[in-house]
Amino acid sequence: MGDLLTVKGLSVDYVTAKGGHVRAVDNVSFSIQEGQSYGLAGESGCGKSTIAYSLMRLHRPPALISDGQIIVGGNDIVPMTEDRVQQLRWSEIAMVFQSAMNCLNPVVKMEEQFFEIFKYHKITNNKTVARKKSEELLSFVGIPAERLKDYPHQYSGGMRQRAVIAMALALRPKLLILDEPTTALDTVVQRDILRCIYDLKKELKFSILFITHDISLMMEFCDTIGIMYAGKIVEQASSEKILHNPRHPYTYGLKNSFPSLKGEVKYMEGIPGTPLDLNAIPVGCRFQDRCFRTCKDCFTKEPENSTTNEGFFYCHNPLEVG
Ligand SMILES: Nc1ncnc2c1ncn2[C@@H]1O[C@H](COP(=O)(O)OP(=O)(O)O)[C@@H](O)[C@H]1O
Ligand SMILES: [Mg+2]
Repeated sequence: MGDLLTVKGLSVDYVTAKGGHVRAVDNVSFSIQEGQSYGLAGESGCGKSTIAYSLMRLHRPPALISDGQIIVGGNDIVPMTEDRVQQLRWSEIAMVFQSAMNCLNPVVKMEEQFFEIFKYHKITNNKTVARKKSEELLSFVGIPAERLKDYPHQYSGGMRQRAVIAMALALRPKLLILDEPTTALDTVVQRDILRCIYDLKKELKFSILFITHDISLMMEFCDTIGIMYAGKIVEQASSEKILHNPRHPYTYGLKNSFPSLKGEVKYMEGIPGTPLDLNAIPVGCRFQDRCFRTCKDCFTKEPENSTTNEGFFYCHNPLEVG
C-alpha cells in the first residue's frame, strides 16, 4: 500500500506582533499509508492542531508554513494555488475540527445544513437527491433518516458529533483528520463514536489522522502513533510498541498519565512540570527540564533521529528495548 500523505520537514511559525516567530511545528516528518490510522498525541500546546490545519492548508495568519512539503496524491500542496488546494480540500482530505459539534447552526434544521454542504461543493442543487445522500451519510454513523427533520439541539452531544463526522465524509475523502473529536463527551460515548468511525473506515476505505491528548484511547484505535513534544515528533512507533516498549522518556510519562484501559487502579505518575515555553527553547533536548533520564549530552546537543523497525525516536538516553 502506498503513501497517501507524506509530510517532510514541516515547520510552521506563528508570527508575533513584534515581528518575532514562535515555531509551533519544527521540522516534522511522517507519512500515512492507505487504510492506516495514524495517531498524533501530546500535551496541549505541542502543535497538533497546527499540523492538522496545515495539512488542509487552512492555517491562517499569524500562522505561516515556513518550510517543508505536504505531499498528497503525489503533489506538494504547500506551494499550490488556493484554487488547486480547494479541489483537494474535503475531497481528498477532510477534517473534523476540535469542538466541531458546537459549530452546527442551532437555528437551521439538519436536513438544510446537509443540503448547504451539497450545494457548496456543487454535488447537487436538488433537494430530493440531497435528502437521499444525507440519509445515507447519517446511516453511516447510525442516525435514523427521520432525524434529518430535527434541529441540532434535539440531538444528544454524541449524535451531534456523529452528524459532523457524517458531514466530513460527504465527499468521500481518502484521509479523515479528527482533531480531538470527542473530548467534550463522556468516555463511553467517545468509545462508541470511535468504534463507529473505525467500522466505517473499513467499509469506505479511508485513512485516519487521529489527534488527541488521550494516549490510551489512541492506543486502542491507531496502528501507528507519533508522540509530539514542543513542536516535534519525538517518537514514532506502532501502538503496540508505544504501549509496551516506549523508548522516549516523554512517551513513557505520557502513557502513565492516563489510567489503563483495563480499568485497574494504578498510580498515575504523569510528567512533572509544564510544557516547554516555545519562546525559550534550551540548548540540547527540549524535554531536559522534565526528564528522569537526563545525561550530559541532553544539555549540550539536540538528539538526532534514531531509526527503529517501525519508526524513530529522538533521545540521548532512551529506555531499553524490552
Ligand atoms: N493564534 C496563535 N497565535 C500565536 N501562537 C499560537 C496560536 N495558536 C497556536 N499558537 C502556538 O502554537 C502552539 C501549538 O498550538 P496548537 O497547534 O493549537 O497545539 P495543540 O493542538 O497540540 O494543543 C501553542 O503552544 C502556541 O505557542
Ligand atoms: Mg489542538
